[in-house]
This record gives sequence, structure tokens and C-alpha cells, in this order.
Amino acid sequence: MKLASEKGAALSERVPVLDLSRFLTREHHQIHLVGVAGSGMSGLAALLIELGHVVSGSDKVSTMETDRLQRLGLRFDEQHLPEHADAAELVVFSSAIKTDNPVLVRARDLAKPIARRAEALASLMRAKRGIVVAGMHGKTTTSAMTAHVLREGGLHPSHYVGAEIPILGTNAHWDSRGEWFVAEGDESDGTLELFHPEHTLVLNVEEEHLDFYADLAAIEKVFARLIEQTNGTVFYNIDDASTARLCATRKKRISFGFSDTADYRGADVDLHAFQSNFCVYSRGKKLGDLVLNVPGQHNVHNAIGVVALATELGIAFDKIANSLRRFEHARRRFEIKYASERFLLVDDYAHHPTEIRATLETARAVGRKRVLTMFQPHRYSRTKALCKEFAGAFENADRIVVTDVYPASEPPIPGVSGQIIVDEIVRHGHRGANYQPQFERVHWDIGNTLDVGDLVLSLGAGNIHEQLSILAADLVIAEQLKAIVGGTGKVRLYEPLSKHTTLRVGGPAQFWVEPQTENTFAELIRFCRDENLPLFVMGRGSNLLVRDGGLRGVVIHPCGGDFDKIEVNGSEITAGVGAKLREVAYAAKTAGIGGLEWMEGIPGAVGGGLRMNAGAMGAQTFENVVRVRYLDANGEAHTKTRDELDVHYRNFPLLEKNFAVSAVFRGQPAPLEEIVRKLEASQEKRRTSQPAAKSAGCIFKNPDSCPAGKLIDELGLKNSRIGKARVSEVHGNFIVNDGGATAAEMLELIDRIKATARAKRGIELETEVQIVGEPA
Ligand code: EPU
Repeated sequence: MKLASEKGAALSERVPVLDLSRFLTREHHQIHLVGVAGSGMSGLAALLIELGHVVSGSDKVSTMETDRLQRLGLRFDEQHLPEHADAAELVVFSSAIKTDNPVLVRARDLAKPIARRAEALASLMRAKRGIVVAGMHGKTTTSAMTAHVLREGGLHPSHYVGAEIPILGTNAHWDSRGEWFVAEGDESDGTLELFHPEHTLVLNVEEEHLDFYADLAAIEKVFARLIEQTNGTVFYNIDDASTARLCATRKKRISFGFSDTADYRGADVDLHAFQSNFCVYSRGKKLGDLVLNVPGQHNVHNAIGVVALATELGIAFDKIANSLRRFEHARRRFEIKYASERFLLVDDYAHHPTEIRATLETARAVGRKRVLTMFQPHRYSRTKALCKEFAGAFENADRIVVTDVYPASEPPIPGVSGQIIVDEIVRHGHRGANYQPQFERVHWDIGNTLDVGDLVLSLGAGNIHEQLSILAADLVIAEQLKAIVGGTGKVRLYEPLSKHTTLRVGGPAQFWVEPQTENTFAELIRFCRDENLPLFVMGRGSNLLVRDGGLRGVVIHPCGGDFDKIEVNGSEITAGVGAKLREVAYAAKTAGIGGLEWMEGIPGAVGGGLRMNAGAMGAQTFENVVRVRYLDANGEAHTKTRDELDVHYRNFPLLEKNFAVSAVFRGQPAPLEEIVRKLEASQEKRRTSQPAAKSAGCIFKNPDSCPAGKLIDELGLKNSRIGKARVSEVHGNFIVNDGGATAAEMLELIDRIKATARAKRGIELETEVQIVGEPA
């Protein structure tokens, strides 16, 4: 028995041997869906389950939709196996499924009936009075709006739309009480011409899906066929030239739009951030005023079509108005992911230049300060064909980060990537466009430039919304952190730590926080404890190597405010952890205190000096420490004197789990000339024996047997390099960044030095520099 041959066969060959409409809507069978996770297929599965069939499905991925369907009774397998065809009385396949799929192969061998998704859908529709919503852009929202208005109008419609629709409950529903069936017609694979609906709503026709169609004429042919096969009325957008031309000669037609000649004409449009006000005239007579609960001129346009259709079906204007006021968007259609007075994050499915332009106009009209966009091109074929059109579509975006192409089952086309879109946007005169080939870094790029008043928009039909969702989740935490640090403290997302380390390498901090007071520092510690967020404290970043994937969690930078203060009291100096050791040395000089001159030679801050028990010129930090004030893991403050503290060479264990706030150092009165002489000696030592280039100070601790610098020198490793990381020719224990080095290069060079020291001298070098963070 054969119902349909596979993809590509002429429609005339698929003369039904079986009355598929009857099979699907009046009988109960065992049906298998191949590619059931797809947005169209999952809707079909839902309808078939509701109709009482035993439904199984296979797909190479499982999704939230397949999980939901399994709860409704779908038997799901996350792989395609020939056996799936054995018990099935009908096999339905998605247009994304290839002809050599094992389920299809077996079904053909067993001569089982096979149907394409759209054939099954068209057959379901035949059992009802069908309404097809067709067009290049806006059909999901418009078909959802139609189903919603008909439902509120008491008509109990069944529906099938291409996305999850919160207000409808699901993407598809079979309602045996009603006669109407509202379906979104998919033009992407030519199956639109399978439908024979009672009414059709045509929104717009233009060049799209050029992977399937040769040109606009080929697209128009499919629409013309649908229009011809519509038994009742075609409702069409008179403002769209192609649509108007295609419908011009048809008898039963009703036009809608803004043109004076439109049968249903919209007027007095007033667009707001999240809704629009307008009124509709029917053949010159005012029907009334409307509030549409979704934003954007394009949605008003489509809503006029829905008003026309619903009115012609006999629904009272009041009911239509009430339902449009309550209408809610489909998922991924200007979907608000985060909203506050400070920030607004919106996701939209727009992927064609016309859609992008419309969505950006809507975003601009919201009235925030800037519109930042992350755009993921969808399909290589579309990127190539419409590359030039994309250039002008982003005029309403202040910044655009373009990812690589989402393939949607297409093989790559050489030379086609997100870069070609960026090149066109830049050629068009836009200065704010960048290409980010690493998808998982897109939220870093946008998040780090985020400023109060920004609207962030993710655009694309692939998975770009995932990047926006990550940003939204992180923004929730960032705003809580901001509430803790208050007006003067700073919070930034994804701050590049290469900006805050002397080595100038390192990925971003998920949350970068600059508190100004001990109290806010303590509160931050408690917040991280309660929220289970990793916490890392970073001072001047002089002894730090952060990996390229950055640091997860909160990075507290206690510099500025209380933390930079230096106070002299007799021969004691109290310094906040954010103060530079060098500044302590010079404060001591001004106060005539000697013994702290060596601090001049350390590039870090007091906090880092304490944590490392840093040293230079034969001295080390704790030789001068009198007291340390710190916060414990619960944010409680403690002060301990030197004799209560356990300190080692380049290590002060207390600060592994506690956080220093300030320290008191003691020197002794000394003549100014002596202090100046020692400071100059330190400067001279630095100048002559250490590199001026960017580094993290000494990389290795000095082993007992020989200073590390001397050892590395003797091993002949000076000037050896990996990429832009190089062992200094001035001092062997310094690795310098020649500009743009990565942490990975630094770490590889460190490993090479360690391996050589081990092999040639039997010495196990231990890093002094602190290595933290995630690999890229
Ligand atoms: N040496 C060589 N070749 C080299 C480097 C050094 O032969 O390429 C020899 C020197 O001639 C000297 C010995 O190795 O005889 C030790 O070198 P240096 O005097 O430069 O001191 P260091 O032990 O390498 C220590 C600190 C530095 C601090 C200096 C100056 C450690 C691990 N390093 O270096 O601290 O600036 O003393 O006081 O203790 C840091 O901790 O990051 C840091 C730079």
C-alpha cells in the first residue's frame, strides 16, 4: 500500500490509495512520526494523540516538547530505528528527514503508507473548515491571534501553529466541538499547495527560502496555487505588492491594510512599547477602536487581517476587541526575557532582513537609550542570498554582534559565515558591528558593554535565545549585587580580567564587583554563601594568571573607598587591602618611617602582599605586619596580631578562606636620606634585573637549591616562547606578554620550563603565581 512517495516526487504521483482524512480523524491507528522533535512535527503529534491514535516518534534529539508529548502518551525514541516502522500503520516524516532514514527505508520495504507532515496536516484539515494563514513573515503570531480570537468568539477552533503559544496552551490542539481549523501554512518546502482550505489569510510574499525556490516567481506560483485552491474567501494584505497582484483577479477576496482602497482599513495607529492602539474601518464604516497587546506596526497590520476574517465569520466587534486586548505573543516573538526600569532583554525569531528591520523598529520605539543586538544568521543559503539586504536592516541597532551561521541541517557553503554579514553592515556605514565566531562568548560581548537604559535583543531562528537567557539569568544576580554595593560601588558583567592583571591575559569575571566599604564587602560574602556562588577576591592582579575561560561566580575587587586608605600613626601605618604596597612605602618615607622601602619593588596591593607574604630585597611582608583585619566566610570581622598568625614562605594560609580588609605595618623612625637611599636601591635593582614588559612578577618560587631565575637562565630557556608568551631575556623567572598572549600559551610555557628543570636538574619547580579560572 502506498500513499505518498518521498520528498521530491510530483504531487500527482501521490494519489491516495487510502482516505487519509478518514484514517486520521474517524479511525484509530498506530502512527509513527519521524523527526518528531521538530516544531511542526510535535504539533502534529499532539493532534494525533488528541484524536486517539497510538503515536510513536523518533528523533536524534529530545526537547522540552518531546518531554511534554511523552507525558501525553507519545512513545519516544531518541534514535531512528528500522523497527519503528514495523508496528506502524502509517509513517509520517518531517521535510528535514533524508530519504535514507532507516525508519523510512523499512517502511518502504514493508510497503507501509508514508505521508509528509504537510499531507497529514492537510488531511486533518479536510475534516474541518480550514483556515490557512500564509506569508513570509508574521504567520505564527497571526495564526495564533486568529485561533485566539476565534476561541474567545466561542467557535471552539482547532489549531496548529509553528511555535509554543502560551495563551493557546500548546502549539496544536484538536477541539472536537468546533468546525474550524486554523493552521499556519509553511511555504518553506512547497507543501503549501497541499492545502484546500475554506479561507486563506495572505500576509506578504517576497524572496525567501532560496535554498528551495529558484526565485520570487517560483514562490509566487505556490501561493497562487493555494489561493486558487481556497474554496471560500482569500483575505489579503493590499499593501504588499506581490500579494495584491496575486489576489487581484480572484472573485471571493477581501483586502486589508492601510490603503484607502482596503476593504478593512486600519487608521490612527499609536504605537507604544508593549502594545498598539488603532481603529478599523470596514468598507468606509468605522468598526471601532482596538488595543493590540503586542508591539509593532507589522503586528497591527496583521491584526487588521484577523479583524477582517473574524468579522466575516460573524464574531461581534466587541469580542474581537476584547480578545486582541488580551492576546499574548508566541514564544520567541518579541518575548520579554527580563524587564526592569534599568534594562530590557527581548528575544525575537526574526531572521529575514524584513523581519529584522520591523523588530528593530519596534525595539527602538520602546524608547530605551540604546538597542544592543545579538544576531545569529540562519542557514548558509539565506546568508549568501540575502547578504546585501541584511546590511541595511540593522540601522536601528546601536551595536550588533553577529555569530556564525546556524546551519539548520544545511552543509556549509565555502566563504559564507557571519563575517560576510558584518562586512556588509560595515560597508553600509554602521560602526558598531562585530563578528563573534565563538557562539558561547556572545553574551560576554554584549553583557560587558551593558549600560543602564539598554534594550538587548537576540535575533534569529536558531538557538541565539540561549545566549540571551544566560545574560538574563546573570543580570538578575548582577542587579542583586548592585543593590548590595549601592550607588558608589560598581558591578559589571563579564569584565575581561586581562584588563585587571599585570600580565594582561585572562578571560572574564562572570560578576565583577567593586565594593567601597567593609560592610558591603561583608554583605557580598554572605550573599555568595547563601546563593552558593563561587567568590574570588582580586586586588591589583600582579601575581595572577587567569585562564582564558575566565572566572565563574563573583570576583570582588576591593579597591577604592575604604580599601585605598593609608593612615600613619607614629611608626605604624594602617593600609586598606586595595592600597598599593608601593604607596605604603612612599607614605612611610613622607612620615620618616624606615624599614618598608622594599615594598617599593612589589607591583601588587596590600591584599595580595598579605595573601602571598610577598617579598623583595631580602625582606617579606609579615616581617613588618603588626595586625591584620579580615572577614571570615560569614562576613564577620576579626583582628589578629602577628603572633596569632601562621605564616610561611610566600604563603599566608588564613587568607585561603578568609578575606583581608586592612593591615597595620610597623617600621622605625629613620633619617630621610637613608630611606631615600634604600628606595633608590630597590628601584635600581628592579630596573637592572627585571623586565619592564608586562609580566606577573616571578613565576616560580625559589627552590632551596638555587633561585628559579638563575636555574631557568642556566637551562638556556631565556627568550624561549610559545605564541606571544616568552621567557624574559632580563630575568629567567619572568614570563612576559609580547602583546595578545593567551593564558593557554603562558601555561604551556610554564609546563615546558618545569619539564626541562625536572629532566635536566631533577628540580621540581613550584609556581608562585596563582593560577585560577576555567580553560577556554
Ligand atoms: N639570576 C640569574 N639569571 C636570571 C635571574 C636571576 O642568574 O635570569 C640570579 C641573580 O643574579 C641572583 C639570583 O639569581 O644571584 C636571584 O635573583 P634576584 O636577586 O633577581 O632575586 P629573585 O630571587 O629572582 C626575588 C623575588 C622578587 C623580587 C626580587 C628582588 C622571589 C621568587 N622573587 O627574586 O619578587 O622582586 O627578589 O628583591 O622571591 C615576585 O615575587 O614576583 C618578585 C618579583
